[in-house]
Amino acid sequence: MLKSRIEQELNKQLNKEFFSAYLYMSMAAYFQSVDLLGFANWITVQAKEEMLHAEKIYNFIHERNGKVVLEQLEKPQTEWDSPLAAFENSLSHEIFITDSINELVNIALEEKDHATNIFLQWFVTEQVEEESNATEIIRKIKLMKDAPGGMFLLDKELATRTLVVPAV
Ligand code: FEO
Repeated sequence: MLKSRIEQELNKQLNKEFFSAYLYMSMAAYFQSVDLLGFANWITVQAKEEMLHAEKIYNFIHERNGKVVLEQLEKPQTEWDSPLAAFENSLSHEIFITDSINELVNIALEEKDHATNIFLQWFVTEQVEEESNATEIIRKIKLMKDAPGGMFLLDKELATRTLVVPAV
């Protein structure tokens, strides 16, 4: 049985994961609007990953006999100055999510909720990859943006990403 403080905090994280999906779909729409369809593909896959993160938390709350409460989602940003600005936004958002997961781990430990702590370790590891992915793309955009055809090549590379559903 979940303590009510943990239940509330997990529901807040659930909202953040859904918002992440919403933000990334908004970025995908931006990339579509500037004809970077590979970028749009990459970030759409990211949005789907965020939905899986949300589903993981949703299922865990139920497994622990808690109640899922879905709240309103904030309106995401809809325009960015450049693909670089969009990915810098993605990285800062992932850092925000990492901080949020770390705080949730602290709360689970304070409440001596070891099951939630173990559950959250998957997210701790995942956030390392999430920040690393965004950082790598920022690095590539900076390297390629002034090269002839650089963004075209990067767009082709990002078009190859497919959704890998993690083992539950
Ligand atoms: Fe679910 Fe990108 O963190």
